[in-house]
Amino acid sequence: MPRKIVVTSALPYANGPIHIGHLVEYLQTDIWVRFQKICGNQCLYFCADDTHGTPIMISARAAGISPEELIEQVHKEHKADFDGFGIEFDNYYSTHSPENRYFSELIFNRLNEAGSILTRDVEQTYCENCKMSLPDRFVRGACPRCKAEDQYGDSCEVCSSTYQPADLINPYCSTCRAAPVLKTSEHYFFKLADYEQQLRDLIAAGHTQKSVANKLDEWFKAGLKDWDISRDGPYFGFKIPGEEDKYFYVWLDAPIGYMASAKNYCDANNLDFDVLWSGAGQAKTGDDEYELYHFIGKDIMYFHALFWPAMLTGSGIKTANKLFVHGFLTVNGEKMSKSRGTFIKASTYAKHLDPEYLRYYYASKLTDGIDDIDLRVEDFVNKANSDLVGKFANLASRSGPMLTKKLDSQLGQLDGQGRELIGKLSAAKDRIVQDYENLKFAAVVRTITALADEANRYVEQNQPWVTIKTDVEKTRTTLTATVNAVRILTIYLKPILPKYAEKVEQFLNIGQMSFADVDTVLENHKINVFERLVDRIDEKQVNAMIEESKEIQSPQPTQESSAEPLKPECTIEDFAKIDLRIAKVAKAERVEGADKLLRLSLDVGGMERSVLAGIATAYEPEELEGKLVVLLANLKPRQMRFGLSEGMILAAGEGGKDIFMLTPDTGAKPGQTVH
Ligand code: MSP
Ligand code: ZN
Repeated sequence: MPRKIVVTSALPYANGPIHIGHLVEYLQTDIWVRFQKICGNQCLYFCADDTHGTPIMISARAAGISPEELIEQVHKEHKADFDGFGIEFDNYYSTHSPENRYFSELIFNRLNEAGSILTRDVEQTYCENCKMSLPDRFVRGACPRCKAEDQYGDSCEVCSSTYQPADLINPYCSTCRAAPVLKTSEHYFFKLADYEQQLRDLIAAGHTQKSVANKLDEWFKAGLKDWDISRDGPYFGFKIPGEEDKYFYVWLDAPIGYMASAKNYCDANNLDFDVLWSGAGQAKTGDDEYELYHFIGKDIMYFHALFWPAMLTGSGIKTANKLFVHGFLTVNGEKMSKSRGTFIKASTYAKHLDPEYLRYYYASKLTDGIDDIDLRVEDFVNKANSDLVGKFANLASRSGPMLTKKLDSQLGQLDGQGRELIGKLSAAKDRIVQDYENLKFAAVVRTITALADEANRYVEQNQPWVTIKTDVEKTRTTLTATVNAVRILTIYLKPILPKYAEKVEQFLNIGQMSFADVDTVLENHKINVFERLVDRIDEKQVNAMIEESKEIQSPQPTQESSAEPLKPECTIEDFAKIDLRIAKVAKAERVEGADKLLRLSLDVGGMERSVLAGIATAYEPEELEGKLVVLLANLKPRQMRFGLSEGMILAAGEGGKDIFMLTPDTGAKPGQTVH
């Protein structure tokens, strides 16, 4: 009986691009899902964008668009990135959806009925300038323990201590730099400790890996605390039923997004959601027809191993059969870094390199553990060139062209030696299937490469390039075995390298291969013309990708400095639009009714300009006449209350009395461009 399986990956935040760190997870999951499908199981893979929360609201504000517009745009980008890497979701949805609102309210109400929700007052940091409560990450200040400047409101990156935003020394709002105040507000809490026993039982029954269970044990020992599941407006999310300005915290509705994505798929495909994921409907089906698996990274274990199963248990909904946790990606042994160019976006990678190399590389590194996985550039290039090109594609390029050119593209039959080789390859199937199933992809790759070595040795022993001159039929026999080796190895690799497998299927002139085909042989069969399967990588391509990923961090003021934070970066193209000219102040006069303004008549080398400048507190009009100033000459003329202003003069200073005009040397001529 084929199994029925539902699989999810964590939902990426909708306020940033997919990068190669994320891809560890989506590729691990995709490989597993493809493996299940190739085994003949029914496997559905669901994901979505995680769209709610303060950071997304603030990003949208900064971009001058609505959060809805932002998440729609990002959804398209994420989807395109995933498609490019062959990550095949059955549904890629959004947490900002009616299904998700429905399930969030349902679960909240059921937990409430179960007595697991309580309310209590909390003191929260609030920015009066931004008119909003600040999440921990939006408050910065000096660490209360080690005094390191510029730390986040929840933890110190220098000494790793954790604390509350209110504990920071000289806290400030990271958006506007104002000092936040404390405000009291009523919040909703989920009583996680109500579910301690159920959680302990679940984990003891093997819900997740041993190493994860050990970590969870520490948390149990520390005691399960009530979880704050509400946020005050303004907030981008779902309103709490019965409340005017309180919303579900993003992490409440995010995992519910798994269900929403599945439900949306079920509705579109005539499937009963209550059968797929039992417990959310009126009638509890109770039967576990579908297995359910979540894939996540180790940074979000607390949410997925404690809160999420507790929420489901409390509302009578099925919990996952297993939670698979993976480690983090490091590049050349270090955390991904924007300045080193190793914070590589999926789209940047795809511009320079074939996504299949990364699929293969990650597979060759992934285990069922939670250790970090390291991408070493040299190792990456080597693996692609020596394994993909040197071992797998080589076997095909040693047989395909000769069959086409010299042997009419016609396969013959296996002889004893050929059968022995193919027998060895197919005998590895059970082990490979086991390793795939248990997420031991590195072991899968080791087994397959060892088999490819064996097949390449077979070709070397039989020397088809020599025998082709003396014994055509013997050569056909050799190449028939070789082609069958290519075929079996490709089936084994297919979950990892779907595009490569497609090309081989085309070359072999056969339909879509599955694991069941390992046990058959291809004989007396006509193949198609061989086309290149993979290209070698040149380290130059990798370096170009890293170069393109390097971001020079614009220096931000430190806490002691009084400077305002910088505006978003301006490109050289933006800057090139500015036309700065030397101008001579022909006349300067006060403006009636405006204490701060002077009307300047400027001579810009023959052109005349009238500019209203807010410098009356610093200069007497007479002082200015005859002076040279720098003028932003192509500023769009602006109709102001006191008349038309045709440009802007450059001055620096605090305002008030201290305004410094940039007056160039007297050698400058009005109308000259300033470079
Ligand atoms: N939005 C939450 C997940 C909500 S799930 C209900 C989130 N998003 S994320 O974009 O930060 O991360 C998505 C997934 O990618 C997480 O499982 C995370 O662990 C994983 N990874 C993000 N960066 C990673 C690496 N550098 N390395 C490996 N996995 C990484 O968390
Ligand atoms: Zn602020």
